[in-house]
Amino acid sequence: MSTPKPYTATRVDAIAPFHVMAILARAKALEAAGRDIIHLEIGEPDFPTPQPIIEAGIAALRAGHTHYTGALGLPSLREAIAKFHDTRWHATIDAERIVVTPGASGALLLVLGLLAGPGDEVLMADPGYPCNRHFAEFCDARAATIPVDATNGFQLTLDLIEQHATPATRAVLIASPSNPTGTAVAPDELARIHNWCRAHGVALIVDEIYLALTYDGPENTAAHWDDVFVINSFSKYFLMTGWRLGWLTAPAWAVPALERLAQNLYLAASTPAQHAALAAFLPATLDELEARKHELRTRRDFLLPALRERGFVIPVAPEGAFYVYADCRAHTDNSFEFAQTLLEQSGVAVTPGLDFGLNRPQYFLRLAYTQPLPRLAQAIARIDRFLSR
Ligand SMILES: Cc1ncc(COP(=O)(O)O)c(C=O)c1O
Repeated sequence: MSTPKPYTATRVDAIAPFHVMAILARAKALEAAGRDIIHLEIGEPDFPTPQPIIEAGIAALRAGHTHYTGALGLPSLREAIAKFHDTRWHATIDAERIVVTPGASGALLLVLGLLAGPGDEVLMADPGYPCNRHFAEFCDARAATIPVDATNGFQLTLDLIEQHATPATRAVLIASPSNPTGTAVAPDELARIHNWCRAHGVALIVDEIYLALTYDGPENTAAHWDDVFVINSFSKYFLMTGWRLGWLTAPAWAVPALERLAQNLYLAASTPAQHAALAAFLPATLDELEARKHELRTRRDFLLPALRERGFVIPVAPEGAFYVYADCRAHTDNSFEFAQTLLEQSGVAVTPGLDFGLNRPQYFLRLAYTQPLPRLAQAIARIDRFLSR
């Protein structure tokens, strides 16, 4: 007699897997079989964590910092983050409004847990970071995805928000610069969106995980406004993806509720990681991080024209992050199949548009420039050979 399968919550059905995982698994299998694969599919920097951070992490473990911290994070780290906001972005923030989280992921989960529930809607761009949709679904809210394209810089605008808002709209979520497009919201547009949100009692959430990786123009933070939820992380600019540490700048009224949620959802962020992150703001670390940022910019400046010359259309130049979201319609109308064949035949792994939403994903590929310049040049040579077949 077969045993009945236990019941699983229906919300899980709405949570799609990362399609790139299929590409990654195949890439690993090809590598295991001896093939050389150039990985442009993964959204994390190839650089190691700076040594001062590693040393501080080891010292923290040796000093016995292996117990829980308070749910909002180490007071010294919250102070250090507030100071970083001040020196880098001239945003004065009370450290009491900073919540240290397990990555930006932890911060997004807290914020959506706070703001959205059954029947509620969260407006967000499509294409966009896929977990945002899934966080909303996990809270039994609706991710109201708004198609964006080159005409709006692949970002939400006030016009789009006004067109799509309903009485159920509880929050507008923006990532600037964005994953997958690397494009940012212009400061005046963000100010208009902020005014609209304030006037309508709708929360504004701005994910600034890639803000410090802005290559063109100033790094415009939304943390100047004290009623916005601003998400950030040690993952990308600080090269600490695996340490699982991020932060959230929240309106003062929201902190007690966020603290209760954090206490119950995960107790606290990793203690050794929090101690290690104190070294992220040392001048020597910041010098290294700026050098890494410069290297990323050089890679972007190589990859962008190289792809354009080969018929990939990138109508809005990515200002930040480490992604190019390329329209590959000149070569295919099935980007998923294209990514698979490119991997099989040429050993170049890229992410198909399908991972970022339902807005014409079949025409797009995301390439992450998380490989050294010579490897990117090799990838372009392989793409050349692939296209000429
Ligand atoms: C836009 C965006 N937000 C949040 C995250 C989550 O980052 P983490 O949890 O590593 O800080 C990512 C990761 O790729 C991202 O691209």
